Amino acid sequence: MQLEEIWPLFGLEITTPRLVLRPVRDVDLPGLAQAALDGVHDPERTPFGVPWTDAAPEDLPRNLASFQWSLRNRVSPRNWAIAFAVHFEGRVVGSQDLSAHDFAHRRTVNTGSWLTRSVHGRGIGTEMRAALLLFAFDVLGADWAESGAASWNEASLKVSKKLGYELNGVTRVAPRPGESVDEQRVRLEEASFVRPQWSITVRGAEPVLDQLGIAR
Ligand SMILES: CC(C)(COP(=O)(O)OP(=O)(O)OC[C@H]1O[C@@H](n2cnc3c(N)ncnc32)[C@H](O)[C@@H]1OP(=O)(O)O)[C@@H](O)C(=O)NCCC(=O)NCCS
Repeated sequence: MQLEEIWPLFGLEITTPRLVLRPVRDVDLPGLAQAALDGVHDPERTPFGVPWTDAAPEDLPRNLASFQWSLRNRVSPRNWAIAFAVHFEGRVVGSQDLSAHDFAHRRTVNTGSWLTRSVHGRGIGTEMRAALLLFAFDVLGADWAESGAASWNEASLKVSKKLGYELNGVTRVAPRPGESVDEQRVRLEEASFVRPQWSITVRGAEPVLDQLGIAR
């Protein structure tokens, strides 16, 4: 028996002109941890709701692995979160995640992402988010996609704007003890998606639809 027969998400692969996105496997964990250890953002302020990059370098890889394993344990048709490892030029450079709860009725996905700093500003963040939006709208049948970013996070908010998201209110988050920041929520309807010029190639989608309980 193959591993993907047990866990179809391990057989899913989305290819863009420059990237390959696959749900994180154990073999990806060292590359993913190294990408995070090499630095994801200015340490002065965290772009994340959970300040996982603040961990000591000796703790971060184990925390990251533990988090990835916890995601797998929570996948069900009612509630799922998939972290994709982003492969670029033969190495893992970050992660793009896609999640939903009660997808059967809400037809809404959420996304979040990060890249190692050395590859920022080359359009990779836009390419990986666009890829998962194509997958969510065209393969999973989503109607809406939501996201959010700290109000100072111009790179993330620019990616959202370029892809057609609309502003969807502001909430207050407190990722670090004693610090709070406005989070700008954004929302994209399928019809407003500014589709890229390129398309994705998807392998292994059919069994994943079954695993996530999504009717065709
Ligand atoms: C957010 C992130 C994934 C974007 O990826 P990226 O590959 O750097 O983004 P892209 O190159 O595709 O596009 C970023 C856009 O923002 C712009 N941008 C980047 N930094 C900016 C800044 N400080 N001010 C204004 N615009 C900025 C870029 O010019 C680009 O726009 P353009 O294509 O019109 O020139 C990446 O920066 C990252 O990992 N940041 C740290 C983690 C993070 O913030 N994650 C999101 C949490 S909500």
